[in-house]
Amino acid sequence: MSAICIVGGSGYVGLGYATALAELGHEVVALDVAADRVAALNEGHSPIFEPGLEELLRRGLGSGRLRFTTDADDAIPGRAFVFLCVGTPALSNGETDMRQVRSAAITIGQRLRPNQRTIVVNKSTMPIGSADLVTQLLAEHVRDGAEVAVVANPEFLREGAALHDIFHPDRIVLGASDRQAAEAVAALYAPLGAPVLITDRRSAEMVKYAANAFLATKISFINEVAQVCEALGADVLTVAEGIGADPRIGPRFLQAGLGFGGSCFPKDVGALAHMADAAGLHPQLLRAVLDINLDLRRRFVAKAERSLDGLDGRTIAVWGLAFKEDTDDLRESPALDVIGGLLERGAVVRAYDPAAMAKAARLMPAVTMAADPYAAAGGADAILIVTPWKEFAGVDFGRIAGVMRGDLILDGRNLLDPEAVTGAGLRYAGVGRGRTGAVPSAILSGAPVVSRD
Ligand SMILES: NC(=O)c1ccc[n+]([C@@H]2O[C@H](COP(=O)([O-])OP(=O)(O)OC[C@H]3O[C@@H](n4cnc5c(N)ncnc54)[C@H](O)[C@@H]3O)[C@@H](O)[C@H]2O)c1
Repeated sequence: MSAICIVGGSGYVGLGYATALAELGHEVVALDVAADRVAALNEGHSPIFEPGLEELLRRGLGSGRLRFTTDADDAIPGRAFVFLCVGTPALSNGETDMRQVRSAAITIGQRLRPNQRTIVVNKSTMPIGSADLVTQLLAEHVRDGAEVAVVANPEFLREGAALHDIFHPDRIVLGASDRQAAEAVAALYAPLGAPVLITDRRSAEMVKYAANAFLATKISFINEVAQVCEALGADVLTVAEGIGADPRIGPRFLQAGLGFGGSCFPKDVGALAHMADAAGLHPQLLRAVLDINLDLRRRFVAKAERSLDGLDGRTIAVWGLAFKEDTDDLRESPALDVIGGLLERGAVVRAYDPAAMAKAARLMPAVTMAADPYAAAGGADAILIVTPWKEFAGVDFGRIAGVMRGDLILDGRNLLDPEAVTGAGLRYAGVGRGRTGAVPSAILSGAPVVSRD
C-alpha cells in the first residue's frame, strides 16, 4: 500500500479520490488551502453533496488511513504519489487559468525529499503541454537529489456518480515520458480492473478534451435537431430513440433539453477551442457546440415570455438549480442564465432544488428559496423545470394545479409525463416535442405530383 498526497483534496475530484484511495487501503493525506472545508472534513462532514461520499469519508477517517490538512509540510514530504486535483477554471477568453496548478506545483517541488522518488499525477484537466509545464516548475523548485516524474492521468468521473465512476472506470489513461512511472500509477488502479492506455503525455491530455468535446457535441446536436422537430411537428424523443438504436450512434447524451453546464463541458470545450485558435486553426464545430448550448437558455426564457404574454410581474417557479441531478454544483448551471433572464424581464422567481439551495441562496439573493416543489409552485403563473431531478417526475400534479395561479409547465428537460400534467388540467410544453400545423411550403415544394390513374 502506498503513501499518497492529494493536492486539492477537498474539491469534487480530490475528495472523491482521497476517500476512494483510502478505501482501497492506501494511506492518504488530503491537502487543501480551504481551511473551513478541511476542518469540516476532519469532523466527517463533506462540503460536497455526492451520493455515498460522506459514508466513505467517515469510514476513511475511522480507519486512520485518511486525514485532511492545510499544512503542505505535513502532507507532501515522503509521499510516493502526489495527485494534483486543483481547479483549472476558464478565463473569460476560454483560456485555462493555471494559477492553482502553478502554485501547487511550486508547493510540491519545494517539499520533495532528497534521495526519494515521487510521482506527481496530473489529474486536473490541463491544457496540452501542462505535464511539461509541471515538470519544469518542479525542476525549478526541487532540492538536489529529489527525483520526480510527472504522469498525465485525466479524469472522466461524472458529478452525481463520482464514486461509482472512480471505482468502475471505463478506462485509465496514463501519459508518461517514463514508462516505469506510468506502470507504478497503473498498479494503484489495478484493483479496479479497468483497461489501461499508456501513451505520451500530450495525447493523454488531449484524450480528456476530445472526450468532453465529443459528448458536448452530441448534446448540442440533439438540441439542434429538437428545434427542427419542434418547428416541424416531429417528436425528438422518438427521433433520439430511433437514431440511438444504431450502435454507431448509441442512445446516451441524446437527451434534448437545456443543454450542458457544470465545471467541465463548457470550460473544456472552450479551452480546446482556445488551444485550436492559438495554434492558428479555426475550431468552427467547437464554437457552434458552445453557441447552440448557450442559445438554449435564451430560447427557454423567450418561450416562457411568449407563453405568458410577457414576464413582467409574473411569478415563476423554477424547479432545479444544480447543473444536473444528484449534485449541488451550480457551476455554469443553465439555471443561472435562465433565472437571470427571468429577473431581467421583471419576473418574480421562487426556486426549489433538493441539494443546491444553500449555495444558490448566496449567489442569487433576489430569488426566494422554497421548502419543496409545492411551496415553489404556490401562486406561480408557470413552473419551469430546469434540472432533471427524479423527484419532480413523482410530484402530485393535481395538488400543483390547486396551488398555482396559472397553468403552464415548461419542461426544459423532457422529464415529466405530459399526460400526468395535462390530466391535472395544466398546460405542458417540453423541448422538441413537435406541434401540429402545416409544414412550411418551402419544404415540400417542387412540381406537383400528377396521378397517372
Ligand atoms: N468536477 C468534475 O466533475 C471533474 C471531472 C473530471 C475532471 N475534473 C477536473 O478536475 C480538476 C478539479 O476539479 P474540481 O471540480 O474537483 O474542482 P474544485 O474547485 O471542486 O476543487 C479544487 C480544490 O483545489 C483546492 N486548491 C486550489 N489551489 C490549491 C493549492 N495550491 N493547494 C491545495 N489545494 C488547492 C481548492 O481549494 C479546491 O478545494 C479540474 O481540472 C477539473 O476540470 C473535474
